[in-house]
Amino acid sequence: MANIINDDIIEKVHDSSDLVNIVSEYLSLKKTGSNYIGLCPFHNEKTPSFTVSETKQLFHCFGCGEGGDVISFIMKIENLSFVEAVKFLADRQGIPLGESKKIDKKIISEKEKIYRINKEAARFYYYNLINNEKPLRYLESRNINKKVLNQFGLGYAKNSWDSIYKHLKGKGYNEEYIEKAGLIGRRKDNTGYYDKFRNRLMFPIIDTKGRIIGFGGRVLDNSMPKYVNSQDTLVFTKGNNLYGLNLVKKYSDRKRIILVEGYMDVISLFNNGINYSVASLGTAFTQNQAKLLKRYGKEVYICYDSDKAGTNATVRVLEILTKEGVKPKVIVLPPGQDPDDFINANGLKEFEKLLDKTLNYVEYKIFINKQKYDLSDIEGKIKFTKEIAKTLGDLKSPIEKDVYIDKISEETGISKEAIQKEILGKNYSQDRRFYKDKYINTRYRNNKNKIMPIKIVLESAHLTAEKTLIKLMIKNRNYYDIIKKYLAKEDFLNYECYALANIIFDKYENNDQLLGLNSSVILEELKVEDNIDPLIINEIMDKDIDFLPEDKVKLIEDLIGTIKYSKLKMERKDIIKEIQRIESKKDKDEGDVGKFKSLCLKLTELDKELKSHI
Ligand code: CTP
Ligand code: MN
Repeated sequence: MANIINDDIIEKVHDSSDLVNIVSEYLSLKKTGSNYIGLCPFHNEKTPSFTVSETKQLFHCFGCGEGGDVISFIMKIENLSFVEAVKFLADRQGIPLGESKKIDKKIISEKEKIYRINKEAARFYYYNLINNEKPLRYLESRNINKKVLNQFGLGYAKNSWDSIYKHLKGKGYNEEYIEKAGLIGRRKDNTGYYDKFRNRLMFPIIDTKGRIIGFGGRVLDNSMPKYVNSQDTLVFTKGNNLYGLNLVKKYSDRKRIILVEGYMDVISLFNNGINYSVASLGTAFTQNQAKLLKRYGKEVYICYDSDKAGTNATVRVLEILTKEGVKPKVIVLPPGQDPDDFINANGLKEFEKLLDKTLNYVEYKIFINKQKYDLSDIEGKIKFTKEIAKTLGDLKSPIEKDVYIDKISEETGISKEAIQKEILGKNYSQDRRFYKDKYINTRYRNNKNKIMPIKIVLESAHLTAEKTLIKLMIKNRNYYDIIKKYLAKEDFLNYECYALANIIFDKYENNDQLLGLNSSVILEELKVEDNIDPLIINEIMDKDIDFLPEDKVKLIEDLIGTIKYSKLKMERKDIIKEIQRIESKKDKDEGDVGKFKSLCLKLTELDKELKSHI
């Protein structure tokens, strides 16, 4: 039973199922550019954020973060296990499960040929290495000993255009398959083939079953490109494999696994006694690789190069692993170093010390953002807090979230409430289910001498529209002149936007000479006692907006349209609430009946108006 779903069936299911077609059976998709977009079936939303890439055969929802391939889509939407989802799709595509062996015979035999070719190639490269001074000296310069050379099966591709070609042909292999293995390429003028790896140190990539699935090759000097890797082939998909996993499986006790960037990092660590590291093979880290790490190490560590690219990649890996339910730890190296540099310079003991000083996801985010922003300055503090709030929003445990809110609040002096709000703000825009419940009706309240709207949660498009209009008005008086024809300051429903509109309208009305407004003048006018959220103000005042001047009227019209539409919807909700209230009343009097009728009439009118907005 367990064997029914083998790799070939999974591959076949992937090859024969078109994600766009399959998703279309569950929701309606619209083409936008190279992708398709629709309403996410996994969370409640009104604006489409569910995208399907036809070329990549992947889906992703920007609203709730769900994503994956055709199998994960079916698992999720039909609530099936992996095996059930594969069967479901196989059934649908007419792929017989039981007879798969017969059908896939051709593919299996092709794969076998490629494995054999790769094995012979690795043997040849190895032979070249141990008989060649140049690459041996290079390995020596990198402190790689003979034992490790053998364990990794390292090799050397000679400086020749046809050495592997001739060797494999001589062994009786067909050039069609040597090409399929990715070792040779066809010449442009079609006069024959050339070796793809020339004058390089060769790293065979070996799967957990001990089969050679591909190669990486490094130059012996500073020439470019430093590394060349086998293309994806019938037996090799970069994103599904990790370099060194074969040795981890063989030697490691699976307590820990360390993810590093490069071949040489794995080898160097191994050379120094760490038999539990793997590398991600020169492409962006994938969800499948996350699954492998989870399987092969109880504790997962990330130790990427300590440079900008490495830091960014680390954050990406942290996100992917967290999604996979793993709680990874980051090993932080001194600036500019990679694991190979570090262990060669400092030895195993010092490296092991680093393992006791690791950072978790949030700690790492705090660590890198502290370097990015100046916390002695108010603007730096705000930006820093916003960045961290984004990460805290991803944490599932409320206790963990609370601990970090306390910590950030202490470090920045920003109140816990404001940080909490910032985190929630992120969730509102991510998950539209939220503001259905949290929506509070529009009312104004007296606040000292001014009438201020009470704080309400707006739909994110509405809020963005208000913020953008405010930015436009500050930037240029002409925009204010257009906008004021449509909106009064009271029409801004967001508390902070209203406060700013109040000042902006005031300033322009009292001085018709002004071409634009200076943000410091506006900030001076804002009253602290008005309970303004500095984060929102900062966001409005901070970001500049760029657009072509000829688009400005259209942009303004669109934004105003968005606000009007959102307001109509809010009004509709109020009416429905009121209708329900009257309906549920036990003793309805004549007044109620009259009101009921006029509300229903109003509802019909509103619906007509709403329709005309779409
Ligand atoms: N890589 C690649 N193609 C390149 C450069 C890098 O595939 N042109 C991949 C390789 O898997 C490499 C890894 O990215 O091992 C890390 O690259 P880099 O940090 O540049 O190399 P190191 O592993 O540090 O190699 P070395 O120490 O030999 O310079
Ligand atoms: Mn290196």
